[in-house]
Amino acid sequence: MTEKAVLSVSALCKYFGGVRALDGLELEVHQGEILGIVGPNGAGKTALINTITGFYRATSGRVVLNGTDITELPMHAISRLGVGRTFQNIRLFKRMSVLENVLVAYKQHTTHLFSSMFRSGSNQAEQAQAMHWLEMLQLADKANLSAGSLSYGDARRLEIARALAGKPQLLLLDEPAAGMNESETLQLITDIQRLKDQVGAIMLVEHDMHLIRQLSDRLVTMDAGKKIAEGTPEAVLSHPDVLRAYLGED
Ligand SMILES: Nc1ncnc2c1ncn2[C@@H]1O[C@H](COP(=O)(O)OP(=O)(O)OP(=O)(O)O)[C@@H](O)[C@H]1O
Ligand SMILES: [Mg+2]
Repeated sequence: MTEKAVLSVSALCKYFGGVRALDGLELEVHQGEILGIVGPNGAGKTALINTITGFYRATSGRVVLNGTDITELPMHAISRLGVGRTFQNIRLFKRMSVLENVLVAYKQHTTHLFSSMFRSGSNQAEQAQAMHWLEMLQLADKANLSAGSLSYGDARRLEIARALAGKPQLLLLDEPAAGMNESETLQLITDIQRLKDQVGAIMLVEHDMHLIRQLSDRLVTMDAGKKIAEGTPEAVLSHPDVLRAYLGED
């Protein structure tokens, strides 16, 4: 292996009773790359993000971030080690301003009781960095608007800005283009391309094949909690097992 693995997932399983959301999954995200993840509904893509981030506890297997085993760590510790994520369903504080939504994420980073008790407001470094991410996502001029007033596409991009709080080494995006129209999706592609230079590595779960082809350096296809193909987007999307998973038998 020549490339440095930012994330390494091995033999990862997550069971819900008899449902195998993840079933022995193996994958790596390398430094400087965007790894695309595709697969039919229920393949386990969101379960993967939830298990990496400690939102779900793995049934078995290992998740390693830059050489540190994070499998058993609580969610806030994993986030502090440099893993940012967005949710498939938008989760913003609608009454707070756009900027405050990003600043809140810095608070969630320092979930030590003591530091949060003695900290009120945000420091200038956090403010400056939050504004930087808003600029990257073309939301700086909307910083003081309430999050609830944003268009759907802007709300989705604010989710990404918030996931960048603390400058993660690994960014996990769960269907960032879901529900976006074509021009919003095209804008998102440019935004994520720009982000790639600032974030060590990105894992991108998406159903939009245009976005996946444009952005993924490598692509992994999942079905029933397993990896069924891996390689360049062109090779993976023409793989017979992948076509079968999407289109059914034959
Ligand atoms: N909290 C949970 N409790 C029980 N079953 C769950 C839970 N979370 C996920 N599952 C099950 O695990 C499997 C994988 O679900 P997951 O949400 O990861 O799919 P997905 O690939 O993200 O699908 P989609 O493309 O629709 O978002 C499904 O069978 C789902 O019902
Ligand atoms: Mg999902």
